Parts: sequence; structure tokens; C-alpha cells
Amino acid sequence: MWKGRFQQQTADLVQRYGESISYDWRLYPHDIAGSIAHARAQMKAGLLSDKEFAQIETGLREIEMEIASGDFEFSIELEDIHMNIEAALTRKIGAPGAKLHTARSRNDQVATDTRLYCRASLDTLFTLVTGFQKALLAQADAHADAIVPGYTHLQRGQPVTVGHHLLAYVEMLERDKARFRDCRKRLNICPLGSGALAGSTINLDRHAIAQELGFDGVTTNSMDAIADRDYLAEFLFDLAVLGGHLSRLSEDLILWCSAEFGFATLSDAHTTGSSLMPQKKNPDVCELTRGKTGRLFGNLVAILTAIKGLPLTYNRDLQEDKEPLFDSVETITLALEVNTEMISAMVINRETCRQAASDPLLLATDLADYLVRKGVPFRDAHELVGRAVAAADDSNTPLDQLDLSAISDEFGPDTKEIFNLESALAARSNPGAPSIENVRREVERWKVQLGA
Ligand code: ARG
Repeated sequence: MWKGRFQQQTADLVQRYGESISYDWRLYPHDIAGSIAHARAQMKAGLLSDKEFAQIETGLREIEMEIASGDFEFSIELEDIHMNIEAALTRKIGAPGAKLHTARSRNDQVATDTRLYCRASLDTLFTLVTGFQKALLAQADAHADAIVPGYTHLQRGQPVTVGHHLLAYVEMLERDKARFRDCRKRLNICPLGSGALAGSTINLDRHAIAQELGFDGVTTNSMDAIADRDYLAEFLFDLAVLGGHLSRLSEDLILWCSAEFGFATLSDAHTTGSSLMPQKKNPDVCELTRGKTGRLFGNLVAILTAIKGLPLTYNRDLQEDKEPLFDSVETITLALEVNTEMISAMVINRETCRQAASDPLLLATDLADYLVRKGVPFRDAHELVGRAVAAADDSNTPLDQLDLSAISDEFGPDTKEIFNLESALAARSNPGAPSIENVRREVERWKVQLGA
């Protein structure tokens, strides 16, 4: 591609070191769409005849089909997807193929391709996240009323329901989608026409190119457009946060599926056995999801590090943006698919949940609130109940069977009612709190919002 200036072949090792075709072939549909839009603008500018444009378009579509069907042979001497496609086109149609690169550089080409790849990935992932939310929602619907302990510090805290717990993840995922929308808005601007760094002396209609490619506008500074990878960092951050959410859910499920908790059972199809211990049924999908989060975080740090010290504009370091990008997109895609299936097949053991939530200590706060209603300042109420808990502990008596009047005469005979789990949960009726009525209302709201 640059034979004019050079007297020696590129060394084999340099080719192996510098090639990106082994991974950037993934950009091919976007590279071809970009080239067709670029060629159309050349035709409108009188640089290509109608016939030449038609040859280019047909040739590129043929190449697209060859790549899609696996019949295309990529060559590492041609470094990357851009040169592989351009060379194949010229082999196919001759002179018009050699005109395609007029007023274009691989620098604005790759920036365009990666933006299009990110946009397509964002759209696919958006749908996958919605599908995952629906799987969680269906379980939340079925178990809106399944009472279970809620935890802080992994110590039993207060009663919630399984539905409330699962809807917490639906909320997180909705924020992930909002970040996707926001990221999409910022990245959907067309850099094509920025050339190597300073545009071109040949003016093509950038707005028409942008429109054909579905962009919302064109970039307004050619140097920024070439050097900018903010959108990748932003996208990888969004995927890292999403991965973090999946990882936290994984950890909850790993606990829930242990003999110690027993709140949920994953299907045989979504667990694995042990080669040694015959009794084992392991939550590997959850563990892998938790483990793969490290890669998602690492990929974000890789791209941030690659761009931080680069002088304007293009530097070859920027080629290092692609493997982290593809890895994060492919990792999270599979994670969403497998987790959606696994959640749909999961069984909630309602009786075990209920049993664990029947610990009267979960209502110690309710007992303090009872005193507050009688006019006792909360700090004093907290201390009185704390003493009651210690006494229950010392005498090995459940809190709800203790003679509370021995601790304070503020405790009346009606304290027994405090330990009714149903009414304790029903009392948590403020917006956002887990009364069964609230959870059912939230389930209905999400059904409308997600079109479930
Ligand atoms: N494969 C290259 C990349 O991904 C394309 C741009 C090459 N530009 C250049 N000036 N060498 O960054």
C-alpha cells in the first residue's frame, strides 16, 4: 500500500507484530458500509462515474458475502481489515477500486468503523439487557410475596421479599441501559472526512455520508475526530459497571444456592458437577460471571492507559483499542445470554426463605419503632431493645418469647404483635420499601416499562 516510498519489504516479525486483521475482521460490515457511503459521495462530487460507483458497490457487497460465508482469505501482509477489503476490491474490479481511497485515510476510516461497531453492539446489548430484566421480573412476579431476610454485612437485617431483592437488579440494569443510551448519543457522530488528521483538499459531502450511515451529525474538528477514543472508554466503562452488576447478582446466587442458605436451586442444565465429589452441584455460571468481571475492568483500564499520553493525532497505539473492545462486548453478550436462561430456570425455595426470615431478631428495629411511637426517643429505644437482645442471647430465649416488661415498663403486652412477620412487612409501605403490596405494584410498573 505504501510501496512508492520504500525499498525494502516489511520484515516478517513487524508484520506479525503489527497486524490487526486476526481480530479487526469483525469490523467488516461497518467498513463496507462506510466505503459505499464514501464512494457515493465521490460519485456525487464527480470523482467517480456512475458505472465506477456501481462496480465498487457490487464488488464490496460481494466481498461482504464472501467474508460472511467464510470464503474470504485474509492476509496479514495487508495488516488490517481496511486494506484487506480495499485490496480485494481492486483485485476484483481494477482501476475504480484504486480510486476508493481518495480523500480518505485509514485513520478516519477506523474511527468510523469502531463507532459503527460500538453503535451496533450497544443496540444488541440494550435488547439483551431488557431480556435479562424480563427474566428477573418474571421471578420477582412469582415471588413478590416470598419473605426472605435482607442482609447488611452479610448478617440478617430486616425482612424483605424475594421479589424486592430481584427488582433491585432490574433497577441497576435500567441504569445500565440509560448509560447505553447516553453513550450512543455521544458516539453517533461521523468522523469520516477528517482524513489522516487535517481533512482533505477534495471536499466530499460529509453530511450526506453521515446521513447514509445513520449518524446524527459530523465531527467538527478533524484532529479531535482522529484522536478521540472517549466513546470507547465510555462504552467499556458502561460494560464494566454492567459486569459489576452481574457479578453482584452472581455472588447473591452463589450464597442462595449453598446448603447454608438454600434459598434457591439452579437447574441441572445451568450447573456443573465435580469430577471427584459425586454429590456436588456447582454454580459455575455465577462464578464465571463473577470472574469475567476482572476482564471487563481490565479492558477499561487498558484503553484508558493506551490513550492517556498520546500526542495528537493518530498513533499506532490506538490499534490497541480493539481487542479490549471486542473482548468486553463478546464477554458481556454471552454473560447476558446464559444468565437470562439460568434465571428463568431457577427455583426459589420459598419455605426455606420464610424459615430464615422467621428469626424474631429481624424485627428488633420494629420493636424500637414501637417504643418510638410511644414517645421514647429513638436512641433510648435502640438501647432498650439492644438490652432485650442481649438478654435473649444470654438466656437462650427467642426475642419474641422474652419477658420484655422486665427490661422496661414502656414495653406493654401488645409487643407480641410486633413479631408478626406479615404485619411487619406490610408496615414497610413507604415508596421504595418492601411491603408485598408495594412489590406487586412495582412488578406491574416494570411490566409496562419493559413491555413484558
Ligand atoms: N489498523 C489500524 C488501527 O486499527 C488502522 C489505522 C492505521 N493508520 C495508520 N496510520 N497506520 O488503528
